[in-house]
Amino acid sequence: MRIKVLGADGQLGRDLLPKLGALALRRADCDLARSETVAPAVASAAVDVLVNCAAYNFVDRAENEPDIAFAVNALGVRLLARECASAGAKLVHFSTDYLFGHSVRTEPYSETDAPGPLSAYGASKLAGEHFVLAASARNLVIRTCGLYGAHGVGGKGGNFVETMLRLAREGKPIRVVNDQRCTPTYTVDLADATKVLIDRGANGLVHVTSGGDCTWFEFAQEIFRLAGLNPDLAPITSAEFGAAARRPAYSVLSNAKLHSLGVKPLRHWKDALAAYLAARKG
Ligand SMILES: NC(=O)c1ccc[n+]([C@@H]2O[C@H](COP(=O)([O-])OP(=O)(O)OC[C@H]3O[C@@H](n4cnc5c(N)ncnc54)[C@H](OP(=O)(O)O)[C@@H]3O)[C@@H](O)[C@H]2O)c1
Repeated sequence: MRIKVLGADGQLGRDLLPKLGALALRRADCDLARSETVAPAVASAAVDVLVNCAAYNFVDRAENEPDIAFAVNALGVRLLARECASAGAKLVHFSTDYLFGHSVRTEPYSETDAPGPLSAYGASKLAGEHFVLAASARNLVIRTCGLYGAHGVGGKGGNFVETMLRLAREGKPIRVVNDQRCTPTYTVDLADATKVLIDRGANGLVHVTSGGDCTWFEFAQEIFRLAGLNPDLAPITSAEFGAAARRPAYSVLSNAKLHSLGVKPLRHWKDALAAYLAARKG
């Protein structure tokens, strides 16, 4: 099976490439914001499966530039999906828990629950997944949450774990929201599950996250416990934090469908975090 990964230099793309034995496609090959680049890139890729890890991921910035978020995450993805369908290639695409949030919720969301994004970013990703699923019944959309991986380190998006460790090193007070509950997910584990889903020819919409759930404050507590650090850490509310984009108070995704497809559940977020920190040291 010939596979290429677009967004190959992102944190998920970098972990997926070796697992899938895939070739890389980068923005210079296919820029989702420049429609004229998409058709030639898909045609010359000549793949059985195109895995799209590329996205506009600036959640707060998207509130002020929704046109760019939609150009990449919705319209660029629409074109990509149409070109893949014309070329007979399956498109595997990633989406986000941030397309939930409108409803008050305490139980994990399943794939059949109605989305209700609170942000321009969430709305752009929701439009993108609709376009992918509409273009071909063979396509697969994987919704995930709170990614961190080795290749986010120092990257433009960074990752939450590295940000916490940096703030602790700098000796700064660390205030983290304690009213957003979700499931941070290690890109290595997501890449493993993605490979199994592709190998099995899975299609449609599937939620894939680590096990369990926590608030970002609880996640930070566990990072520092495992790292043996004791910084000035305290919980705050989302209102006190004052981010530009609203985020869901609860966006835990149920992995029941993934399990029903016979895919081994991802390990608990605490075990995944421990593995990430151990790999980082080594
Ligand atoms: N990060 C999270 O917490 C999170 C949570 C849920 C879902 N997701 C989804 O998971 C997927 C992977 O996320 P990630 O964290 O690995 O992303 P990432 O590290 O931010 O990487 C994004 C990649 O997309 C590329 N890209 C951005 N705009 C592009 C464009 N116009 N055309 C082509 N390529 C473009 C970037 O290329 P450059 O290197 O050239 O900038 C980069 O390689 C995305 O669909 C994201 O929405 C992420």
